[in-house]
Amino acid sequence: MEKKPWPSDEIIPESFKNFSKEFTVRSPGRINMIGEHTDYNNGYVLPTAIDKSIDLHFAANNSEHECSVYSKTYGKTFSFDLRKVSRSKNQWENYILGVVSEIQKRGKTLKGFNCMIESNLPVGAGISSSAALECGVAFGLNKLFDLELTKQTIAELSRDAEHNYVGSKCGIMDQYASVLSKKDHLILLDCKTLKAAYVPAEFTGYKVLLLNTMVSHSLAQSEYNTRRQECEAAVGVIQEKYPEINSLRDINFDILEEYKNELSAVQYQRAHYVLQENDRVLQAVEAVKKGRLEDFGNLMYASHIGLRDEYEVSCKELDFLVDFTKEFDYVLGSRMMGGGFGGCTINLIKEEKIDEFIAKASKAYFQEFNIQLEAIPVLPEEGTRILDSQK
Ligand code: GLA
Repeated sequence: MEKKPWPSDEIIPESFKNFSKEFTVRSPGRINMIGEHTDYNNGYVLPTAIDKSIDLHFAANNSEHECSVYSKTYGKTFSFDLRKVSRSKNQWENYILGVVSEIQKRGKTLKGFNCMIESNLPVGAGISSSAALECGVAFGLNKLFDLELTKQTIAELSRDAEHNYVGSKCGIMDQYASVLSKKDHLILLDCKTLKAAYVPAEFTGYKVLLLNTMVSHSLAQSEYNTRRQECEAAVGVIQEKYPEINSLRDINFDILEEYKNELSAVQYQRAHYVLQENDRVLQAVEAVKKGRLEDFGNLMYASHIGLRDEYEVSCKELDFLVDFTKEFDYVLGSRMMGGGFGGCTINLIKEEKIDEFIAKASKAYFQEFNIQLEAIPVLPEEGTRILDSQK
């Protein structure tokens, strides 16, 4: 097999100086049009991968157990032994170690490998750089060692890595979207059955624009896990009478009202939001299929209100940016995206107005918070893929 030499670069660590990749995996970030905090409640989501990604260059290194990973973007390297995989105190290493561990748990045999990583995905923006990294590692190792993992298994084991090594009890949305998206489509994913329907992302004349607040409040991870527990606790209460109910997906508004007095006010509020958001996802799919983009946009605004007032995962920077769009008819919809407490808003905006709007929003946001926001126009892209291969 002929390998391409990696271009020499003086900052490359010793172990990567003669690195010859066998292939490159392109692993994208994701957006979610609507359906937030529904995935771990077995509900519906409407995400897709985007044209911003991480590239991971892989090669086997002919050792039995030695592995080295080098992030060119962050100038960081680490090595580990496949016989002694355990959690690291450096969080970024856990995304990789976690995936290796989950592959091993599934009885698959890995050998020594080297991996070099380059990224153009902003970290902390809520576009799932972590899922992209996990899935990219899993996808690459699957190819390098012919592990015969399906794409769905790659997504699931990457989610498990996040649970067990990173500590975030996330749902399946980010990993599923990163790996299984199709170019120019959204995925209507039923997180209960993991059945996906691909919906053409036909926003004729309109584009998706992310506005990064550039804040990432520290409570994000702990509050995320708390929300999940609150929803599970609500299910626990309802299960006493309805044992067949396993998640909020299995209850309807009638059952929720029946339990209103037995649930805490917070549990009721969280559950009410989730039920409404699931409905909104299905309505949004109908709207985009019928070209009713204004309805789609209104559902995005309603989603934000629920996330802000009932689910309580927004923050003043996100609220400001969403409210700001209401002055402009050419923005059809806007909402916070992802886990919340910072990161991006997602906006559906008339294509020819994007530059004008970015200038206005940047100015207003700077005046309010003294922060320069980052505007990221995105396109729906194909999920994780091999870019080039000598293998
Ligand atoms: C994060 C998680 C996802 C999902 C979203 C909220 O991105 O990783 O699983 O729960 O938050 O919708």
